[in-house]
Amino acid sequence: MSSATNLDGDQAPAPVPDDGSGEAWWRSAVMYQVYPRSFADGNGDGEGDLAGLRSRLPYLADLGVDGLWISPWFPSPMADGGYDVSDFTDIHPMFGTLADADAVLRDARALGLRVIIDLVPNHTSDQHPWFLAALAGGRQAPERARYFFRDGRGETGQEPPNNWISAFGGPAWSRVTEPDGTPGQWYLHLFAPEQPDLDWSNAEVLDDFDDVLRFWFDRGVDGLRIDAAPAMSKKAGLPDADYGGVLQFRTVDWDDNPHWDVETVHDIFRRWRAIADTYDGERVFVAEAVVSTPERLAKYLRPDEMHTAFNFPYLKGPWEATALRTVIDDTLASFAPMGTPSTWVLTSHDEIRPVTRYGRATTSSYFITDGEGEVPDLELGTRRARAAAMLMLALPGGAYIYQGEELGLPNVDDLPDEVLQDPMFLRSGGAMRGRDGCRVPLPWSGSQPPFGFSPEGVQPWLPQPASWSALTAEAELADPASMLSLYRSLLRLRRETPGLAATGLSWRPSADGVLDFDRGRALRCVVNLSPRPVSLGASTVLVSSVSLEDGVLPTDVAAWLTVG
Ligand code: GLC
Repeated sequence: MSSATNLDGDQAPAPVPDDGSGEAWWRSAVMYQVYPRSFADGNGDGEGDLAGLRSRLPYLADLGVDGLWISPWFPSPMADGGYDVSDFTDIHPMFGTLADADAVLRDARALGLRVIIDLVPNHTSDQHPWFLAALAGGRQAPERARYFFRDGRGETGQEPPNNWISAFGGPAWSRVTEPDGTPGQWYLHLFAPEQPDLDWSNAEVLDDFDDVLRFWFDRGVDGLRIDAAPAMSKKAGLPDADYGGVLQFRTVDWDDNPHWDVETVHDIFRRWRAIADTYDGERVFVAEAVVSTPERLAKYLRPDEMHTAFNFPYLKGPWEATALRTVIDDTLASFAPMGTPSTWVLTSHDEIRPVTRYGRATTSSYFITDGEGEVPDLELGTRRARAAAMLMLALPGGAYIYQGEELGLPNVDDLPDEVLQDPMFLRSGGAMRGRDGCRVPLPWSGSQPPFGFSPEGVQPWLPQPASWSALTAEAELADPASMLSLYRSLLRLRRETPGLAATGLSWRPSADGVLDFDRGRALRCVVNLSPRPVSLGASTVLVSSVSLEDGVLPTDVAAWLTVG
C-alpha cells in the first residue's frame, strides 16, 4: 500500500470510503467532466483555474455527482487546449500550483467526490524538454529515440516517411530544420505538429510514465483517463496505411490500421494496471478508445487492463429509438463476458453539445462536422436533451456529464473566427470549425457576461452569448423546471433508490419508437421517441422530463416510474 506526503507536508488525502454496498465505486459512478480553462476563474484573468474549481466544488457535491474527471491541468503551450503537455508532473501556472491541485483533491475528498485526471500519453508538447533535447541534439541524438524521427522519402528526403494523416487534417509528419540549418528528419504527430508522438516501444518512455502514474496516485487521485489510448502503439516499420480512400481520421472505420488499435498497445495497459493495483482504494483507468467494433473495445477492458471506457457509440448515435436500443444492447452484451460495467455519455469537450445536436436534422455525430451548418431548433433540442439525460442516467453502469450539460447550454456556433483556438479549425484552413463552441466558459450568475465566471468587467477567454442569462447556475437553481433542477432530481433519485446500482436492465414490450425498461424492482424508464403519445397506465411517475397530463407521455419526453 502506498501513501505519500504532499508538497505542503500534508499526507495525501485518504480515498473516499466505500459506500458499503460492496460494489466498487467506479462501477456505477456519475462523473462530471471539468474543462478547467472554462469552469470558473478564481484569480480574475479571464481563464478558469483551480482556485475557481475549488470554490465551486460544493456546487458539484450538491448536484449529486460521485466525482470529477478533470481535463489536462498540466503545463502546456495550449496548442491543443492542454492536450499538448510540456510537464506531466506539474500544474499549468494559468491554473495554479501543485499545492492548489492538492487542495482540490483534499476538498473533493471532504465532499465525498472522487477525482480522475486526464493523462495524455500518446504525445508530448513540442515544448517538452524531451522533444527540445531531441531537436537540439541533431540527427544522431539519442533523445530522438523517444519519438518517431525518420528520414523522409524522395531523393532529398523531401517527402514524409509514410502516408499517415493527422487527426486535425494534413500529413502526420513535419520536417525539422537540423541545428546546422539544413532541412532534416521528419517527426510523427498523429494530432497537431505541436504534439509529437512518443514511441512506446522505447524503454525510457515506459519507465518515465511509470513514475508519472505513481506521482499522481501518490498525491491521491482516484484514477486516470487515458487520452487517445489506441494511438499509443504503432506497427513496426511504420508501413503506409490503407484509409480506404477517405483521408479523414475516422478511426471507427479502421481495421488493421498501422497507427491505431495496434495489438501491442495492450502490453502498456497491463503494465499500468499492475501499478494501479498496488494502491489502496480502487484506482481506475478510463479508456478513451474509438475503435472499430465492441469486441475490439472489450480488449481494453480485460481484467488486467483498464476498468472502464468512454462509450462513444452511445454518444455519437442519432436520437432514434432503434439505434439507441441497438447500441445499449450491443454495449451490455459486449461488456458482460468481462463483468465490466458500461459507461454512458452524451458529450464532452470534443463534441457538439446535445441541446444543439438534438435540435438539428442530423442528430448523430459520428464525425465532428456532421450536421455542421444546420440551424438548430434549440427548443426541440432542449426537450430531447432532457429526455436523453433521463435515459442515460437510468441505464446500468456509470455515466459522464460534461460541464454545462446540466445547464442545457447550447453550442456556441457563431464565435468569431478570430477567437477560435482549436487546431482543427486552424489546420483545416477553416473547413472544420472545431471544438471551441462547446468550450465557452460557464455562466454562473448575473444577467450579463461574464456571468460570474470571472469578476465583472473581465472578458473570458472565449466570449459568452448574452442569451445565457437564463442559463446561469443561479437562475436555474431557482427554477424547478430548469435543466439543472432535472439533473439534480435524477441524480438524487439515482442515489436514493435502493438496489439500483446493482441491477441490470430488462426491456418491456413497447410500441415502435418507444424505449421501455425496468431496472429490477427499483425503477422503470420510458422514453417516447415516436411521433405518437404513449399512455403510461396506472404507474406512479417519479420524475418526468416535462410535466405530464393524464398519464400520457408526449413525443421526445421521458419518465421514471415505479415498477408496477
Ligand atoms: C483526445 C482529446 C482531445 C485531444 C486529442 C489529442 O481525443 O479528448 O481533446 O485533442 O485527444 O490529445
